[in-house]
Amino acid sequence: GINMKGKDIITLHDLTTDEIFKILKTTDILKKQQMKGEVYKPLKGKTLGMIFHKSSTRTRVSFEVAMWQLGGYALFLNKNDLQLNRGETIADTARVLSRYLDAIMIRTYSHDDVVELAEYADIPVINGLTDLTHPCQVLADLYTIYEYKKKLAGLKLAYVGDGNNMANSLLFGCTKVGMDISIASPEMYQPEEFIVKLAKEDAKLTGSSVVITDSVKEAVEDADIIYTDVWASMGQEDEYEVRLKAFKDYQVNQEVVNMAKDDVIVMHCLPAHRGEEITHEVIEGPHSVVFDEAENRLHTQKAILALVM
Ligand code: CP
Ligand code: NVA
Repeated sequence: GINMKGKDIITLHDLTTDEIFKILKTTDILKKQQMKGEVYKPLKGKTLGMIFHKSSTRTRVSFEVAMWQLGGYALFLNKNDLQLNRGETIADTARVLSRYLDAIMIRTYSHDDVVELAEYADIPVINGLTDLTHPCQVLADLYTIYEYKKKLAGLKLAYVGDGNNMANSLLFGCTKVGMDISIASPEMYQPEEFIVKLAKEDAKLTGSSVVITDSVKEAVEDADIIYTDVWASMGQEDEYEVRLKAFKDYQVNQEVVNMAKDDVIVMHCLPAHRGEEITHEVIEGPHSVVFDEAENRLHTQKAILALVM
């Protein structure tokens, strides 16, 4: 079998297809176990440190509950709680925390900071979102897609909106599991070239395709999944007005949903801005699976924690 003990979860591009399926399979086992009321506590006596430099509802609560349900303890470390905030280096922080904790989950701005933390830590480091990527979200997304469609390879996901951390991680995740992905963004806001290049390498291996376009219609046509995310991410608050204008033709509304397959599912990592990237009608409508998607953060993260710790 595949042994993931000690592994960092920094981007989905770093994981193999087999490792991603291992996480999804474990998620399925743990979710069904929990639904039957069975107790499974493999992390007794283990502690996860959770460093948050940005806000969070889902990631914070689901990781903390995940640790509790698995028999371990989760320590919430706010922006101001660590000496990192007063200039202690990432390298020193990593080595000190490694003496107390069994794993670290971190949400921050710079992706390189997470890479550096992992480099110096002796314990697994899990990326809970950076400006560049959000792998834990996409693992939950892939599991949710599997629940609805009973397969992954061969499906088409259309992402409409900002070429941000979600777009990047979806590019990595979809191509690893053989799903076609089309991204529709205004030219200025398309995913960075180096991300697209890495995703295309994986697409070649799994026989899937990557399309980057400024046409919503082209992306959404024949889609099995429509995905969107906010137009201004955390840290981009001062670009809000400019972005509102730039993305106005990239809203997931009923007209866009009608361009996809009849049984399309609509996804959003949340939090959502109704009336901006998605309409109230669509997010509350029959195609939306956003709350199952949010629930699955808990189950996929239990799988990640149980596998790497
Ligand atoms: N989707 C997601 O990561 O949500 P939070 O920002 O609430 O953690
Ligand atoms: N792109 C969003 C995702 C939030 C889960 C952000 O980075 O703010």
